[in-house]
Amino acid sequence: MTSKGKIKRIGILTGGGDCPGLNAVIRGVSKPAHDNGLTVLGILDGFEGLVEGKATELYNKDVSGILASGGTILGSSNKGDPFHWTVSNGKKISIVDKSADALRNYDAWNLDALIAIGGDGTMNISKKLSDMGMNIVGVPKTIDNDLEATDLTFGHDSAVFVVSEALDRLHTTASSHHRVMVIEVMGRYAGWIALNGGLAGGADIILLPEFPFEWEIIYDRVLERHMMGKKFSIVCVAEGAKAVDGKMVVKARDKKRTDPLQLGGIGEYVAKRIAESTDLETRYIVLGHLQRGGSPTPFDRILSTKFGTSAIELVMKKKFGRMVALKGNEVKSVKIEEAIAKQKLVRPDDQAVRAARAVGVSFGTKKI
Ligand code: F6P
Repeated sequence: MTSKGKIKRIGILTGGGDCPGLNAVIRGVSKPAHDNGLTVLGILDGFEGLVEGKATELYNKDVSGILASGGTILGSSNKGDPFHWTVSNGKKISIVDKSADALRNYDAWNLDALIAIGGDGTMNISKKLSDMGMNIVGVPKTIDNDLEATDLTFGHDSAVFVVSEALDRLHTTASSHHRVMVIEVMGRYAGWIALNGGLAGGADIILLPEFPFEWEIIYDRVLERHMMGKKFSIVCVAEGAKAVDGKMVVKARDKKRTDPLQLGGIGEYVAKRIAESTDLETRYIVLGHLQRGGSPTPFDRILSTKFGTSAIELVMKKKFGRMVALKGNEVKSVKIEEAIAKQKLVRPDDQAVRAARAVGVSFGTKKI
């Protein structure tokens, strides 16, 4: 499995939830690969395709015109973990290890290397496959931006753009009707989307998983705004946010997913509590998968292209077991284990937190 000769054939897959910029990475990998005479095999539906042997060759024409398109031409899945493969007989779900199938297909396809594009789940699987001898290079994607080893993941900027546009729209209707508007955004256990989206969209209150909030502080803030003649308030709440005396709101559990928890529902709960306690008319909206769909922003197109072209460079240099990572303005690389060692969470001293506080944003707590 260790590639002794020249690199001739590579595989590429997109794992986990999709996000804008995946196609730009696929293009960024494939174009230079083709120019260097390599064959690129597109593995379908993430690791599911690797286990089940689903792949298609990507020709130059397949990666033309996809820079600006959202989603992934390869398909993706967050249920295809080879080490945690679910088998169902209709009544019972059991978990089996299918990593041997993944290795068998990699060998059968004569791959010299695999480029795995994904978030923490994908990098965890990549690390284990790399330990088993597969030549892997990782590319960090996730709208959540929660990978410590890179300053940014692609997809985050596009999600923040969607949140900020939604907040602009909510402002006008909130102001016309003198309402409190609560918007629930994604991000799982990290508050980056709510923080950056809330800051860009001028939210008055931002609630993050990292800073458990107090109900009274929220009520006081919206009432205070009301009394000051600011007859609307915008609350941007991360799906993983929780009150100091509460828990994260879980919408569903699915054993087949790499992370079985599906978060969701805190926005509705926050809106209900505000309405009951302040008597102000309140509405909520869950932005959901709109944050993951559509065209990548110019920033994400550029970052994805830099990541893709850097990943194929690593492969050509046979620097395996590494993930490309943004450090300052430069794309460098780190060991895949570094990428999964720690989740990147919002810290109280983050500049965006300090800036938000300076312009009067409340995080629903006095502790920061
Ligand atoms: O990790 C990306 C993400 O969009 C999270 O922000 C969110 O919690 C989760 O995926 C949603 O996953 P699904 O698309 O499976 O509902």
